[in-house]
Amino acid sequence: MRGRLIDVTEEELQKHNIRATVGPAYEVTQASMVYNVSLYMDFHPGGEEELMKAAGIYGTDLFDQIHRWVNYESMLKECLVGRMALKASTAL
Ligand code: HEM
Repeated sequence: MRGRLIDVTEEELQKHNIRATVGPAYEVTQASMVYNVSLYMDFHPGGEEELMKAAGIYGTDLFDQIHRWVNYESMLKECLVGRMALKASTAL
C-alpha cells in the first residue's frame, strides 16, 4: 500500500472488521488515519482478540484506555492504508 493512500468511507471501514482470510482488518486512530492491522495481529502483545475489538471502528478510545504511551504511528507505519474520508457537509 505504500505510496498510495486512499480515502476510506464509513461504509468501507465497517466492512473491514474481519481478519486477513476474508479481508484486511482496518483500524482508525486519533488523526483519522486508517491502518490495516491484520499484518500486526500476530505481533500484538495484547493478543488478537484485544486488537480485533477496535477493528472496523474508531479505535482510539480503546487504545488509549490500555496504552496511551504506545507509539502506534511508528509501529504501524507500513500498515497505513489512508485517512477517513470527510463527510460532505449539509450545513450552511
Ligand atoms: C499491549 C500495541 C491496539 C489491548 C500492547 C503493547 C503494545 C501494543 C506495544 C505492549 C505494551 C507494553 O507492554 O507496555 C498496540 C498497537 C495497537 C494496539 C500498535 C494498534 C491499533 C490495542 C487495542 C486494544 C489493545 C485496540 C484493546 C481493545 C492491549 C492489551 C495489552 C496490549 C490488553 C496487554 C497489556 C498488558 O498486558 O500489560 N499493545 N496495541 N491494544 N494491548 Fe495493544
